[in-house]
Amino acid sequence: MGQSIKVLAVSDLPAGSMKTVEVDGLQIAIANVDGQYFAVDDICTHKHCSLGTKGFLDGTTLTCGCHGAQFDISSGAVMTLPATSGLRAYSVSIDNEAIIVHI
Ligand code: FES
Repeated sequence: MGQSIKVLAVSDLPAGSMKTVEVDGLQIAIANVDGQYFAVDDICTHKHCSLGTKGFLDGTTLTCGCHGAQFDISSGAVMTLPATSGLRAYSVSIDNEAIIVHI
């Protein structure tokens, strides 16, 4: 059974920004792309860098700050080497100005 957990206030995550949050023991990168919210595993599948703190966001393309692997943050799919596996993606909703991640 999944859980729905409030992670941030909407005002904590302006458009174009990304943060790492801990949700029930999981590290999750959460991003606001032009008012749409996305969440994926924070840990790069290449060499385990934090994507939310060391990565860069350009639209829905998330680039790892360590070696440049790219992921589609809307799906978690890997786009560019050196990573070869995608990230788990989580659904996100907004409730009363709170960002809720469903794990
Ligand atoms: S740790 Fe992310 S590309 Fe190497």
